[in-house]
Amino acid sequence: MERNQKKSTILSLDYLFGEKLEDKEEQNINPEDSFLILDLGCGTGFSSEILIEKGYKVIGIDILSDMLLKIKEKKSIYQELHGLELILADINYLPFKNEKFDHIVSISAYNFIINEIHNPRNKINILNNTANALNKILKDQGRIVIEFYPENEKDLELFNKSFINNGFEGFMVKGNLRQQAGQTFLLLKKKA
Ligand SMILES: C[S@@+](CC[C@H](N)C(=O)[O-])C[C@H]1O[C@@H](n2cnc3c(N)ncnc32)[C@H](O)[C@@H]1O
Repeated sequence: MERNQKKSTILSLDYLFGEKLEDKEEQNINPEDSFLILDLGCGTGFSSEILIEKGYKVIGIDILSDMLLKIKEKKSIYQELHGLELILADINYLPFKNEKFDHIVSISAYNFIINEIHNPRNKINILNNTANALNKILKDQGRIVIEFYPENEKDLELFNKSFINNGFEGFMVKGNLRQQAGQTFLLLKKKA
């Protein structure tokens, strides 16, 4: 579990600053800048740990206090995690002011935001509201990489559309081309 989460985070960072999201007309982003990154669904912190290790400032949010307690224990042991800020919050109701974050990363969590929602109209509403909120809290030229596991091809399309309809452009990369849904990376950037 730890190994996979960390591997996915490293790959997500490659996508975040990689050539797929580059734009010839824009100044390229320097991955060595000390960006403030939001980790959506930080769990017990494997993704946040990698982000901190790479030198970024990180705010991690999770809906479960048990998860945050576990990272807090790690924070009390490992000096390098002291700067990590943790907030108990739902991805669907983000408590941040506009344009707070340089970039956003989410590892193996975003599919849960429509967990147990079966009505397609309700799914669309939730996904649109959340994509719109993510757009607002990102600075100009902000980017997002989401690694997640949509349940099926239809849901994947809904996730995709929610971003395209709410001010993002981007790409999708599948973990395994033969799988219809499965591990998927959404590489997104805020439209100018
Ligand atoms: C597999 S874990 C993620 C692990 C973490 N990113 C890591 O790399 O260690 C999924 C996490 O998403 C969180 N989660 C699920 N739904 C959420 C929501 N609506 N808002 C915030 N966090 C949520 C869960 O509580 C869980 O900790």
